[in-house]
This record gives sequence, C-alpha cells and structure tokens, in this order.
Amino acid sequence: MEIVVGVTGGIAAYKTVHLVRLLIGDGHNVHVVPTPDALRFVGLPTWEAISRNRVTTSVHEDVPQVRHVALGQAAELIIVAPATANTLASMAAGLAHDLLGTTLLASRAPVLVAPAMHTEMWQHPATQANMATLRARGVQVVGPDDGPLTGGDSGPGRMSEPEAIHAAAVALLQRRHDLAGLTIAVSAGGTREPIDPVRFIGNRSSGRQGVALAVAAAERGAQVLLASANIDGDVLAEARRPGVEITQAGSAAELSELMAQLATRADVVIMAAAVADYRVVEVSDGKLTKESGGVPTIRLTENEDILAGLASRRRPGQTIVGFAAETARGDELLERGRRKRRRKGVDLLAVNEVGWTTGFGVADNKLVILDAADAVTSEAAGSKREVADALLDAVLAARRA
Ligand code: CTP
Repeated sequence: MEIVVGVTGGIAAYKTVHLVRLLIGDGHNVHVVPTPDALRFVGLPTWEAISRNRVTTSVHEDVPQVRHVALGQAAELIIVAPATANTLASMAAGLAHDLLGTTLLASRAPVLVAPAMHTEMWQHPATQANMATLRARGVQVVGPDDGPLTGGDSGPGRMSEPEAIHAAAVALLQRRHDLAGLTIAVSAGGTREPIDPVRFIGNRSSGRQGVALAVAAAERGAQVLLASANIDGDVLAEARRPGVEITQAGSAAELSELMAQLATRADVVIMAAAVADYRVVEVSDGKLTKESGGVPTIRLTENEDILAGLASRRRPGQTIVGFAAETARGDELLERGRRKRRRKGVDLLAVNEVGWTTGFGVADNKLVILDAADAVTSEAAGSKREVADALLDAVLAARRA
C-alpha cells in the first residue's frame, strides 16, 4: 500500500525511523514527508535511505508531478508521528503552509496521528480543542503515553512506541473497505410528535452519533441509507458524501414507514434515532391559544416500537442493531440493557449512558455493546466516530459468528 509518514519537529522523530522500517518490512511503499523543523532532529539522508524514496519538504520540487497534491491523492494511509502541538493545530485549522499540510488536505485517506509534546502543552485547552476537532473529523489517535519526557519531567505526552503506532496503522488498514458489499440503514436524530402546527414533543438527540455511524460505514465501504429525523443542517452536512443516501422523516410514524422501506434493501439496520414512545391523540389543526380556554391537557397514545417491528420481520442474514439510552449506571445500566435487548429481539444493543450532560448533544460518547447472548462484546468510549467504529466492528463480528 501507499503510505505517507509525516514527521514533525519533535525529538521523538528518531523513533519514527523504526516505524518506517516496520512499514517497509510489511511491504508498503512509504513516502516520508518531514516538516522543515523535523529535519533538525533526523536528517534527510536517513529518511531517504530508510524509506527508499526521495524525500523533500518543499512544495516547489517535482513540480511537473504536482507533488504537493500527488502524494496525498495516492496515499492509502497517512501517519503523522510525532505530531507536535503546532502540527495538530495546523491540521485542525486546515493550513497548507508546507508539503505535509498540502498532502493532508489533498487526501481522502484515513489519518493516524501520534502526538508528542510536554504534558502542559498536551493538556492545554487549545490542544485539547484541536484534538476534539480532529477526532470528530475521523482522525485516529494513538497515545500519547504517560512516562518520562525529554526535559527530565514525566507525564502524558510521550509519543507511543513505534510498535504501538504500527499496530494502530495495521488495524486502520484492515478496517478500510471491510464493509464493502454491505448496505447499512441507519436512523439518526430525534422524532417530533406534533401538538399543533407550531408545537411538538421532541427530545435532545442531535443526531451526531447516527451521522458518525453513517460516515464511518461509508468510509469503510458500505452503501449507507440514512434516515434523518430532524437533524440540524450543520450536523447532517457531515453525512452528505458519496455512498450515503439521505431521506428525512419527522414523526415516529413517518420514521417507521421510512425504516420499513429502507430495511427491505439493507443487510444491517441500526436504529440510532431517539424515537418518541408516545404521540398526541388529537393534533390540533389550529394553534392552541390561551383563548382556547385554561391549561390544556394533552392526551397521549403509544407509538409503535419501530425497532421491535424491524427485528420481528428481519430477513435471514439481516442484522438488527438498537441503541438504549439509559440514565441508570453500573450493573443497573447493564441489566436494563439486557432486558431491553430481549424485549426488542435485536442482534446487538448499544447501551448508551445519557444524562443532563452526557450522551445527547455532546461530542463524546460511551457505549457498552451487548450481543444476542446478552454478553458484553465490547465497550467503547471516545468521540462519536470512535464509538461508531467500535459498533461497526461488533456488527461485523456478529455477522461472522
Ligand atoms: N425505538 C424504536 N421505536 C420506539 C422507541 C424506541 O424503534 N417507539 C428504538 C430506538 O431507536 C432505540 C431503541 O429502540 O434503538 C431503544 O430506545 P429507548 O428510548 O432506549 O427505549 P424505549 O423502548 O423507549 O424504552 P424506555 O423508554 O422504557 O427506556
């Protein structure tokens, strides 16, 4: 495979020499792209000798080959190790002031970064905000490790060992295209049950987790059918890409009809949307006003359980995945999850801790995944993208079993 290794200006660059050797040993064609600063730590001849490819830091060399974009376009994986605080900030801002910057911007390949810096720099809110941006964009992160740093101090900030970065790269390459040939229907967002023309009963689901699932599945080669229930334009924009077909649904009844249609085409159905359990019996044609008289009483009736319906009608070989939004914690969380999985009859249930400040509307998420035997197959915490990848791994494992 074509792999670009970006090296930036940190002392850990000497460890990246070994990483490049490991990648070459696997038979990959490695192009090293150092930043000018990186060459203060390890010189250009070392990179050329070890990678057996020409190395430059300049966007003005090899102009006939349009090197500044050619490397990124051809890359099947980009690794940045060490990734300094400065480089991570540039990446988050999308800067293209050197060959590594242009290469990263010109590429659609997965990106793996191995941060390396002093603890204070790593923990600085600016760096953490940049990391959150990069993670949300799908950048994978390995490390940093906690241990002795160059100045004699110690703490989180040490670049991961070359073997660990290599293992993360191998895992990433294995995930590429591992969902090719599968059609995956995903519902995302939250339903709105109308009360009158201007009011509804809704919930706080932003749709971010479902969108992250759609994006991750598409990047891993799946054909994705995304049912979007009231997702903000900004959030949904992430999913507008080749391989993702988006259809809108408003209420639970609309989502139910849409999912039934999509499920006929899908090998895997994932219900990540937060569906209202109840709807209003008498939706008022006109706006309810104070003149309508007194405090209104809104009578509710139960909605169909979309997920349970999809599971009971599943075709042979179809995998049905549910989410469980729970405010319980610990053993009670798992027990509630297990009861819900059995009640719905699904193959996998992703149990999601939610609360006033967790789960809904926030960037990070935490899941415990239960399989059809009620066993915990995996636990995932991190960005919604990382959690999405873990759930898709569990889907593949369930389909192989
Ligand atoms: N779900 C559904 N149809 C409903 C309610 C929920 O398809 N009418 C799906 C959700 O999309 C999710 C799963 O069922 O995948 C669990 O949703 P959750 O709200 O956690 O469970 P409920 O069935 O609503 O149970 P409870 O409110 O009692 O926790």
